[in-house]
Amino acid sequence: MYSVPKLEDYSPEALDTASRELLEALEQESAAVQDEAECKALRDRWMARKNGILTQINDVWLKAAPSASKRQAGQQVNQLKKQVEGMVEVARKRLLFREMPATEIDGEMVGKPLVEIPVEALDSWLATQKLAAERIDVTLPGVHRELGVRHPVLRTMDEIVAVFVAMGYSVAEGPEIDSDYYNFEALNFPPDHPARDTQDTLFIAGQERRPQRDRLLLRTHTSPVQIRTMERLRPPVRVICPGKVHRNDAPDATHSPVFHQLEGLCVDTNITLADLKGTLDHAMKAMFGSSVKTSFRPSFFPFTEPSLEVSISCPFCGEKGCSKCKGSGWIELLGSGMVDPAVFGFVDYDPAKYSGFAFGMGIERMTMLRHNIDDIQQFFLGDVRFLEQFS
Ligand code: PHE
Repeated sequence: MYSVPKLEDYSPEALDTASRELLEALEQESAAVQDEAECKALRDRWMARKNGILTQINDVWLKAAPSASKRQAGQQVNQLKKQVEGMVEVARKRLLFREMPATEIDGEMVGKPLVEIPVEALDSWLATQKLAAERIDVTLPGVHRELGVRHPVLRTMDEIVAVFVAMGYSVAEGPEIDSDYYNFEALNFPPDHPARDTQDTLFIAGQERRPQRDRLLLRTHTSPVQIRTMERLRPPVRVICPGKVHRNDAPDATHSPVFHQLEGLCVDTNITLADLKGTLDHAMKAMFGSSVKTSFRPSFFPFTEPSLEVSISCPFCGEKGCSKCKGSGWIELLGSGMVDPAVFGFVDYDPAKYSGFAFGMGIERMTMLRHNIDDIQQFFLGDVRFLEQFS
């Protein structure tokens, strides 16, 4: 293997010969390079700052040159530096060239030609290859993106909102994180009242030092929006409050810790239970078909008195009794009632002058009934095979 000889003779001819021997040695070594590791070894051997061959000729040839030959030797060494650098670079490109796969373009193989490419042409050959490999056929069909559709839950929500808007209701929204006051207290759930257990939820951490009514929680229903609306507006009020709500419920086929509600409120002079019944009967017929009947039974909510549970006649069997209605012919669907005068007290409405009704329904449950879906979890899994059915 080549090693840098000491020079005795600094004549131009001797310098030329020494240079030629060096370049021949490099040419041989560079032709033998087979892979990236060898290519790096070649570069280190010849060009490493510390003890590479270029450094050696600088030390052995140039520094030792008699002062009369210094200039000549200096020029020679500089020229050699450039040549060596160029040749090492060529070795690298040859390797690239060798590793470049043949590509098929328009039915023709464009790849390594059978003849060696002259070193001077390597650069342009590599550039052409790169271009060819990156070529794009604009006539190929593009990536097809399906158009999205509204989620079935939101579709039901939109439809039921439209039913109430047609009856003169406006839409109000409120925060999903609300205070104990709006979610419970102003709705006549006193602290420690057992009715709070039916709507257990998550409280925001680190609020122990706040008074209970100010503590923030994930709202369990959209009723707090009704309180906020009554604080803002004097009667007559007709408002619906759609939105996302949270409860500490373990997920199963009919429960989800996150779901959607639509609640409504109507307050005016002379509002009676008959208004409540007529309004909800109309809404259920609009959603489930005109042959559906409604039935009202006493229930309990802290914020309504009296409270009524609303059932619809089973849209699957028409009251005959089937697995959907568990044989009863009826399906419970809404909570409702006449607004408790105590609630009016929280918003400064005069209960002697005004009366009103309120109601609330679960959107997922309505959607399940309308599309015969038997697992509420489907709405939240994001499985396109499920969602596609609604496109
Ligand atoms: N807020 C009740 C719930 O989430 C529903 C409801 C609203 C009941 C209005 C009566 C009146 O369960």
